[in-house]
Amino acid sequence: MFLNLVLVFFLVTLVASKDNSFIYNNGFQSSHLYLDGIANLTSNGIIRLTNDTKQQKAHAFYPNPIVFKNTFNGSVSSFATTFVFAIRPEYPTLSGHGIVFVVSPTKGLPYSIPSQYLGLFNQSNNGNTNNHVFGVELDTIQSKEFNDINDNHVGIDINDLKSDNSTPAGYYDDNNGQFKNLSLYSGNPMQVWIEYDSEKTKIDVTLAPINVVKPKKSLLSLTQDLSPIMNNSMYVGFSSATGSVFTSHYVLGWSFKVNGQAQELVISQLPKLPRFGEKKESKFLTVGLPLILLSLVFMITLGVIYFIKRKNKFAEILEDWEHEYGPHRFKFKDLYFSTKGFKEKGLLGVGGFGRVYKGVMPGSKLEVAVKRVSHESRQGMREFVSEIVSIGRLRHRNLVPLLGYCRRKGELLLVYDYMPNGSLDNFLYNQPKVSLNWHQRFKIIKGVASGLFYLHEGWEQVVIHRDIKASNVLLDAEMNGRLGDFGLARLYDHGADPHTTHLVGTVGYLAPEHTRTGKATKFTDVFAFGAFLLEVVCGKRPIDHVAENETVILVDSVFECWKRGEILEAKDINLGSDYESEEVELVLKLGLLCSHSEPMARPSMRQVVQYLERDIPVPDLSLLSLSSSGLTFGYQEFFEDFPMSYPSSMDKTMSHTSVSIADSLLSGGR
Ligand SMILES: *[C@@H]1O[C@H](CO)[C@@H](O)[C@H](O)[C@H]1NC(C)=O
Ligand SMILES: *[C@@H]1O[C@H](CO)[C@@H](O)[C@H](O)[C@H]1NC(C)=O
Ligand SMILES: *[C@@H]1O[C@H](CO)[C@@H](O)[C@H](O)[C@H]1NC(C)=O
Ligand SMILES: *[C@@H]1O[C@H](CO)[C@@H](O)[C@H](O)[C@H]1NC(C)=O
Ligand SMILES: *[C@@H]1O[C@H](CO)[C@@H](O)[C@H](O)[C@H]1NC(C)=O
Ligand SMILES: *[C@@H]1O[C@H](CO)[C@@H](O)[C@H](O)[C@H]1NC(C)=O
Repeated sequence: MFLNLVLVFFLVTLVASKDNSFIYNNGFQSSHLYLDGIANLTSNGIIRLTNDTKQQKAHAFYPNPIVFKNTFNGSVSSFATTFVFAIRPEYPTLSGHGIVFVVSPTKGLPYSIPSQYLGLFNQSNNGNTNNHVFGVELDTIQSKEFNDINDNHVGIDINDLKSDNSTPAGYYDDNNGQFKNLSLYSGNPMQVWIEYDSEKTKIDVTLAPINVVKPKKSLLSLTQDLSPIMNNSMYVGFSSATGSVFTSHYVLGWSFKVNGQAQELVISQLPKLPRFGEKKESKFLTVGLPLILLSLVFMITLGVIYFIKRKNKFAEILEDWEHEYGPHRFKFKDLYFSTKGFKEKGLLGVGGFGRVYKGVMPGSKLEVAVKRVSHESRQGMREFVSEIVSIGRLRHRNLVPLLGYCRRKGELLLVYDYMPNGSLDNFLYNQPKVSLNWHQRFKIIKGVASGLFYLHEGWEQVVIHRDIKASNVLLDAEMNGRLGDFGLARLYDHGADPHTTHLVGTVGYLAPEHTRTGKATKFTDVFAFGAFLLEVVCGKRPIDHVAENETVILVDSVFECWKRGEILEAKDINLGSDYESEEVELVLKLGLLCSHSEPMARPSMRQVVQYLERDIPVPDLSLLSLSSSGLTFGYQEFFEDFPMSYPSSMDKTMSHTSVSIADSLLSGGR
């Protein structure tokens, strides 16, 4: 027993002492690195931190802890590390986020989030002294919120993404002392040296291209005792994250040592970066480049003439207060070109708030959807824009990401990620070319429920959607349902005339108390969600004009089926026989429950999610005082109150597009 203990102790000390230095010069294949997120090794052993998946984080850590502190006086020992990295964006002019060398109390950083947080921290723990994290960031995006100096800098981060010191990327030439710029995301491998001197309590960071020996003068220094920041034993590794632009982050070789110089890497022995697009490049240089240059010169000349001629065309409004939204603000010119001048050909749809066009951003080739919203009043614009920008920070897999905005006179343009499969209503009505099966519909329903739950309860602020309906649910490449247009309805709340409450929403989805008071709440969203559930299961609009003077109200017909004890009769005939009757019944009942005329009787989105996951059973509808007239009350009141605003002779084209009250009110008012 004693012998065993001695042996264990001996082994532990052996491992610990061995772990005070390591070097990876020939790839990381057999290194047992700790990898998480989207990190993986390439076939020749390079760490590829990130792949093409958006909004993900990645960590690669040395598997064993490193003892950093001197046991006698508890001060952090000197240490040194050097590594070779490369950042390759898919498009040369636009990079995703950067790489961080990190020393952390845990392997990986489990609570961190991607994008500008670089997989290091989250909104609530960023800046917290309990993090015990030391990092050196190679950052390729300027995040104003963290006071980043530019989009190509090196920074020393202590517990916080706001760097304690930072400087543009580059190095000092040993021969003449001149500073030379380096582009971190050039795609070329570069070497970094990080050294901590425990006597001077000073951190030095040096950067250089791989064909340059370590420059004598360091790029960046910080005098800071790391003893209060670091724990006794810590893990070392790399962190990176993706945002909306594809970028690959690689680490080719790495050496580390406590108490001494890290062993130098032999550059010629490092594994080679994947030959990404090499063939293209050789052709590109001989044929493509001259051609491109020629056409570029031609286009620039044309562009200049064009620009001078039509300067007015691209006029936009930019006020002082907007500067803080810099990164979220798009140039009208770019949007104009990306959509080829808002041509009808690129029109994706016409919704309650405006026309949506497909665009491909010049340079980045990012596919976007641009929504043009006309807006007369300038009052409340500031508040609205700040809200849009803060809503743009919302991230959830069932929301359409909002990338930014642009303002012109009387017009607001919103830029979203492009959703390749378009809106859900195209798959539901008017004999769709492709009809969705039950599995797909149920997945979309659960997705939208979880997106709406996030808007209601998952974020620091409550976001009321106000216009939930099938045409506002977009389908991404994997046919996940994503809510679009969230928060947009608020635009009309800040209207010019405070005496009129602009009712926003779409007929058939408006809760009775909403038409009465004009106030949107979580309950009114749930009501609209109920109408949405029924339309997805039944493949019918909430209010359908079957003939000249005949209107079918979907919730009523589902209610009738339920009363007869044949609720499944209500389902879409296009579902065929391949469906789970229990799930169909669950969703139909939930649709009725959400359509209850009494707001308090409707479930919350949290409960809706639980019902859909079948964590809790749906309450027995017969115990609730549901009645057909109760369900339709809202619509009847609506027809009485707004006789003028609702076109009685809806023609065919109008019934194809969704008609929102906002539309009719606004057009009636002018
Ligand atoms: C990215 O990596 C993750 C995890 O390694 C993997 O599940 C995903 O399929 C990868 N995506 C692509 C596009 O290669
Ligand atoms: C990691 O890369 C290897 C090839 O190097 C591949 O076989 C494996 O599927 C990848 N793992 C993930 C999770 O992508
Ligand atoms: C702590 O002890 C080590 C060696 O025992 C010494 O090199 C170092 O200077 C000491 N640090 C302080 C702050 O006293
Ligand atoms: C790091 O040290 C702090 C304070 O000394 C302690 O509260 C924390 O639990 C330690 N973290 C780990 C992971 O050991
Ligand atoms: C942020 O990280 C801390 C741990 O450092 C964790 O307790 C907290 O829940 C996280 N917050 C969010 C919003 O993820
Ligand atoms: C280096 O970059 C800075 C800022 O981007 C720029 O002002 C400077 O002219 C550049 N220097 C060289 C030599 O390219």
